[in-house]
Amino acid sequence: MKITKTSISRLNSTDFSNLPFGTVFSDHMLVCNYKNGKWSEAEILPYGPIAMAPGAQVLHYGQSVFEGMKAFKNNSDEILLFRKDENFKRLNQSAERLSIPLIDKNIFMNGLDELLKLDSAWCKKEEGYSLYIRPFIFASGECVKASASDEYTFIIITSPTTKYYAGEMNVVVEEHYTRAPQGGVGYAKAAGNYAASFYPTKQANAKGFQQLIWTDSVEHKYIEESGTMNIWFRIGDTLITPSLSDSILGGITRDSVVTLAKDNGIKVEERKILISEVVEAFKNGTLKEAFGTGTAVTVNPINTITFREDRMVIEAQEDSFALRLKTQLQGIQKGKIEDTYNWNSKVLNAVKS
Ligand SMILES: Cc1ncc(COP(=O)(O)O)c(C=O)c1O
Repeated sequence: MKITKTSISRLNSTDFSNLPFGTVFSDHMLVCNYKNGKWSEAEILPYGPIAMAPGAQVLHYGQSVFEGMKAFKNNSDEILLFRKDENFKRLNQSAERLSIPLIDKNIFMNGLDELLKLDSAWCKKEEGYSLYIRPFIFASGECVKASASDEYTFIIITSPTTKYYAGEMNVVVEEHYTRAPQGGVGYAKAAGNYAASFYPTKQANAKGFQQLIWTDSVEHKYIEESGTMNIWFRIGDTLITPSLSDSILGGITRDSVVTLAKDNGIKVEERKILISEVVEAFKNGTLKEAFGTGTAVTVNPINTITFREDRMVIEAQEDSFALRLKTQLQGIQKGKIEDTYNWNSKVLNAVKS
């Protein structure tokens, strides 16, 4: 792989005590192009602007998919990548749905390894730090005809992050707008899904809510996700999360929490959930917890849920399942708790920092 190192690292001029999520980028990026029916050899370059034609199809038709994953540094200075196979699999599932050519496993895995070796110092081992990794593919062919492109670009960039403190999480049930319809692209990490969510989210923000609860596009009766997190309810001592469908993104954190919860002896149900069921549980006092799961936040408690005129306040539990599962998941990711699931893979020969 061709590697061009940056002549001036930004490492020493970066303030690691102030890292607003997703705004600071490491020194290098991996770039790989698809042309004439095949992916070229990947190359590592200094992080920086990329040349793109104004006619690039992604700019007109949004043909683009991405991933979000994390690496952690353990106390022995080793970089641990969390469930990279799952992110690779999901990237290609998304690519297939958006008619984007699948990325080769070698390009993805070797590229990730080389990039993390080179920028390992950007992954801090101090408590709370991780390296957020953003692989993405977009249509770079120059053509304004509404059709799938012949050319694509695959890039991986990385961004150092600290603990994601989401603050109070007050959510409102959205009954008009839809994140993803049946038969659509909701199960894919397609860029357009996010663009379409900003306007309804902004309206909810203006009313004082941090996030929406998305409901099904047909009847707006079934709960789907909350913002960019999968959603969970603890009713009595059972954890319930919506079963996956083509309108729900199959979160890797969600999958990990299903496994962890079951191994904690907690009953887990993956099924359709009516809003009316959650309201009923609140009224009869069995709704004990609600939380979201996702790579950025891991597990994030929801404080209130507003449905029409009713605001349901969910009191903190002493034996919180959310907190227990969060501690376990973060412990595994950081290499502090034995990884009996083989979720972590080490980036070998990373430069120690
Ligand atoms: C719409 C949506 N749902 C759920 C998730 C959680 O997925 P994961 O746990 O893989 O980060 C994300 C974030 O990636 C998302 O964007």
